[in-house]
Amino acid sequence: MTKKALITGITGQDGSYLAEELLRRGYEVHGLVRRVALEAPERRTERIAHLLDKVNLHPASLESYPSIFHIVSRYDFDECYHLAAQSFVAESFADGFSTMNTNINGTHYMLAALRELRPQCRFYFAGSSEMFGKVREVPQRESTPFHPRSPYGISKVAGFDLTRNYREAYHMFCVSGILFNHEGPRRGFEFVTRKISNTVARIKLGLATELKLGNLEAQRDWGHAKDYVIAMYMMLQQSEPDDYVVATGESHSVREFCERAFAEVGLNYKEHVVVDERFRRPAEVDQLVGDSTKARTVLGWRPKYTFDELVREMVQSDLETLSRTKGHEVSKLSSSP
Ligand code: NAP
Ligand code: GDD
Repeated sequence: MTKKALITGITGQDGSYLAEELLRRGYEVHGLVRRVALEAPERRTERIAHLLDKVNLHPASLESYPSIFHIVSRYDFDECYHLAAQSFVAESFADGFSTMNTNINGTHYMLAALRELRPQCRFYFAGSSEMFGKVREVPQRESTPFHPRSPYGISKVAGFDLTRNYREAYHMFCVSGILFNHEGPRRGFEFVTRKISNTVARIKLGLATELKLGNLEAQRDWGHAKDYVIAMYMMLQQSEPDDYVVATGESHSVREFCERAFAEVGLNYKEHVVVDERFRRPAEVDQLVGDSTKARTVLGWRPKYTFDELVREMVQSDLETLSRTKGHEVSKLSSSP
């Protein structure tokens, strides 16, 4: 029988790659989206524009238990991938209350609705390496204690605890992936990697001259989102529910990312990057690097993309998109009277 999966956050970076992956595997894919996304699909469903005739979208919001309950009551879902969240760490400092409300209550609503209506449905929670925060050991693994450094990180620890509690208390198949940073050409523009790749392309095309960033020394374990959504799928195919760290095991600084990205188009980052204190955070997570031995041995997961391939793909993709737009604008200008 065709399996039915519900993806919350299907319009986001990971949701779009996961939808592709599940469709490829023959799933019937359903997505929970905010009503505004359905009202302005050309912009808000951009990442899944090529999938719109293959997926079933349902309006709901993480702030509304009745809207979630309604969707869960309508379909007999086999798997639920709960990816929706306010996912930008800096924004969580600006409005911690909204982030906590959306991320913690939203996760609790999903779990409560499934418990009530679909206790057999397998549940994936999008945990984060931000939960390790001020890290207690290097590299970080499943047993490393959490020490979150932002309202976002705190909300993810709460979601992780809720997920484990539903597993233990109600014997539901609930798992958390503790995913380290993962990127790609569909990454939101507010995150540092996309901000860099996009600005590098703009500078190369003469549309900008400088790139303003905050902390250049922060280190992250950056992988490709395409690889990471496969780990999410694998976690829900196991015989027993469990939590897994998903990471490349390699750490690079923001500075190194800049160096590689600018070099990709033959430029020197030192001539364009400007430190702007406004982009620093009140509390920083200095170094993240994950040990994904458990995911590699139990799930058989391993990333395909290298750091260099990731940077190259992001820069080239932004370059192509912007060149097309620029070319279009130039041809529009030259054809105007
Ligand atoms: P993303 O691109 O920011 O996507 C977030 C998704 O959540 C979007 O579809 C967004 O919908 C939806 N959403 C936000 N608030 C909502 C609300 N109130 N009601 C309904 N939907 C809402 O994030 P991502 O990078 O794909 O990450 C997916 C998940 O993994 C997130 O939970 C994130 O915290 C977590 N995570 C990400 C990483 C990473 O490096 N990417 C690492 C660890 C964990 P709209 O399109 O309508 O805004
Ligand atoms: N966004 C941003 N903008 N970050 C900057 C900038 C800037 O101008 N300058 C320096 N940084 C530094 C941040 O201080 C941080 O140390 C690092 O770049 C990465 O920032 P982000 O790309 O915003 O990602 P993040 O690590 O805070 O959070 C992402 O990864 C988490 C997993 O560890 C998000 O995807 C989270 O949702 C995810 O959980």
